[in-house]
Amino acid sequence: MSHAEEHAGTRRDFLYYATAGAGTVATGAAVWTLVDQMNPSADVQALSSIFVDISGVEVGTQLTVKWRGKPVFIRRRTQEEIEAARAVELSDLVDPLARNANLPADAPATDENRLIDPERPEWLVEMGVCTHLGCVPLGDGAGDFGGWFCPCHGSHYDPSGRIRKGPAPQNLHVPVAAFIDENTIKLG
Ligand code: FES
Repeated sequence: MSHAEEHAGTRRDFLYYATAGAGTVATGAAVWTLVDQMNPSADVQALSSIFVDISGVEVGTQLTVKWRGKPVFIRRRTQEEIEAARAVELSDLVDPLARNANLPADAPATDENRLIDPERPEWLVEMGVCTHLGCVPLGDGAGDFGGWFCPCHGSHYDPSGRIRKGPAPQNLHVPVAAFIDENTIKLG
C-alpha cells in the first residue's frame, strides 16, 4: 500500500467512524426523547399538584384537603394563636427543626419558618399526619397547647403545629406549598 493509499484509507476510516459516531449520538438522542416522553413523572407531577381555594376559610377555622392520599390541614389562625406561637422559646421545643419542605432541612422551628409565606402568618399549612404513628390529629385549638391533639397516644401540638408533649418525635410536616394568588394555595 502506497503512502497515499494508506492515507486515503485512514481518512476513509476516520470518516466512517465519525459518521458512525454521529449516528450513535443521533440515535441516542432519539431514544432519550422517546423515553423522556414515555416517562410518567411529568404527568404524575402535574396530577400530584393541587390548587386549593381558601377564600371560604374563616379566621379560627381549618380546611382539610386530601392530597397524595393524605390529609393536609390549612388553618387560618387567629391573632391569639399567632401570638401564642411566637411567644414560645425555641429551647422549649421538643423538635428544634421547622420540618418545612419549602426551607432548608436545618431551618429552626420558629413560627415564621413554619409558614409557607412569612408575610401571611394567618395561614399555616401542614400535613394532618401525626409524626408518631400517623394518626390524624384533632384540630381547632385541641390539646394542652391550643393547636392539635392526637388522641391515639396523646401527642399535643401548638398553634404552629410543633410537637410539645407526648410521644410524637417531630413537628407536623409542612409540605411543598405556595400561594399562587390571594385565595389559592398550590400543594406540590
Ligand atoms: S399516632 Fe399520634 S400520638 Fe400516636
